[in-house]
Amino acid sequence: MGATGPAEALTVRYAVENVHDIDVYEQHGGYEGLRVALDMAPEDIVQTVKDAGVRGRGGAGFPTGMKWSFVAQGTGKPIYIVCNADEGEPGTFKDRELMERDPHQLIEGMVVGGLAINAEQGYIYLRGEFAHAGRRLAKAMREAYAKGYLGADVLGSGKRFDLTIHRGAGAYICGEETALLDSLEGRRGQPRLRPPFPAAHGLYGCPTTVNNVESITSVPFILRHGVEWYRQWGTEKSPGTKLMCISGEVERPGNYEFALGTPVSEMLEYCGGMKDGRELKFWCPGGSSTPLLPASKADTPYTYEDIQEAGSLLGTGALMIFSEQTCVVDAVWGWTRFYEHESCGKCTPCREGSYWLSQIYQRIETGNGREEDLELLEDLCDNIFGRVFCALGDGMTSPITSSLKYFRDEYVEHIRQGRCPLGVTESRRDIGVVEFTRAGGYEDVPPATPETLSDPAETVGTSAPGGA
Ligand SMILES: Cc1cc2nc3c(=O)[nH]c(=O)nc-3n(C[C@H](O)[C@H](O)[C@H](O)COP(=O)(O)O)c2cc1C
Ligand code: SF4
Repeated sequence: MGATGPAEALTVRYAVENVHDIDVYEQHGGYEGLRVALDMAPEDIVQTVKDAGVRGRGGAGFPTGMKWSFVAQGTGKPIYIVCNADEGEPGTFKDRELMERDPHQLIEGMVVGGLAINAEQGYIYLRGEFAHAGRRLAKAMREAYAKGYLGADVLGSGKRFDLTIHRGAGAYICGEETALLDSLEGRRGQPRLRPPFPAAHGLYGCPTTVNNVESITSVPFILRHGVEWYRQWGTEKSPGTKLMCISGEVERPGNYEFALGTPVSEMLEYCGGMKDGRELKFWCPGGSSTPLLPASKADTPYTYEDIQEAGSLLGTGALMIFSEQTCVVDAVWGWTRFYEHESCGKCTPCREGSYWLSQIYQRIETGNGREEDLELLEDLCDNIFGRVFCALGDGMTSPITSSLKYFRDEYVEHIRQGRCPLGVTESRRDIGVVEFTRAGGYEDVPPATPETLSDPAETVGTSAPGGA
């Protein structure tokens, strides 16, 4: 086991004033990793990344070097490297800050990645709302072209690498790598059938790799400082550091860099502990698509293998913290509505199931739950997980099944008492719940009155498939 605790690798230049300017970046070791890469054969760059053991930070944790080694060579077609900067997973906000504060890191990583897989063109698929990051990246790219880090002859090496920023329109599904490629090609972003995988048949039908911002920015550091340097942190299977987006009921939420292997309880302490001294109730290890875990598992070391052993996934590193004041049903309802809204509609279990799940949550949380609802939730999740086209559908079931596993009593209490035992129902009624209607989409329902409260039909949607 390497070092644990707070670390500085990707964030080491965050404190440097104006490091987004190329001159300042160069003064702090910028583009040195690229100079090392230019003296290496492409397969040696790939091997170095494999030896370092970098795993994809976009959610799935697939080894980056391995992914690069799969990119088809010698097909006669152009090869592309695409950076996934869509960052849509709830609770995740690390890539945006990385691009805003130190944009040259990403540009350098893209050129190195391009050299590794013999790509002459790269794209950064950027969430459209990230206007500031877009401006910073665009300026940094102009500087990089002017200094010869990008262009037809990268630093006089005879190798070409061009880079383009493509702004998305803010759909969560466009972060899924094949939907992203469709969107980049100008089509509606919907996942593609695999195989063929992007490594053989990606952008414009050509060999392509899609990598997360954090994965790509790790690479220049590794080339500059070496594999051992990177492996000083973390474990054999989870080496390096992780940018953690810590949010929720903590004293000092924000982005932090920790060595992999640091226990979650230690991270919490480092962030000033629970907000106002509240008690930890549950936490999501890596975004809302990863199963939530109870407080009793907070000492789990934050590695891919340990979090999996604890029953969840490391995901994007978005650690969301909730206290005993949070109603778990209400929290999961919020996420379920997000998935319902973001489902691309391509396959039926996700398109219809997300809507149906939302309806059930609405009635449980607003005091109209039925005894059979918990089995219905489980049955629906069972019919979604593994039967959908992409991981959005699977991810949607994670908070539901895990919260039912650890907090079933709380669900039962909602139904038994006909209200939220934590009092959230009442506040929802104050603001007026939002209801979905088949014909008109979302509609604001006026705040309930004592009369409507006594009539469940007034506050519960009845148009879900199957009459649920
Ligand atoms: C619905 C959905 C949304 C996703 N959004 C993102 C995203 O915003 N950023 C990202 O890097 N990966 C996202 N992913 C994961 C990508 O499909 C892909 O695994 C990742 O970009 C690969 O990069 P990595 O190997 O560096 O992790 C998403 C996946 C799904 C199913
Ligand atoms: S699982 Fe959902 S988001 Fe994914 S393809 Fe099917 S409908 Fe679209």
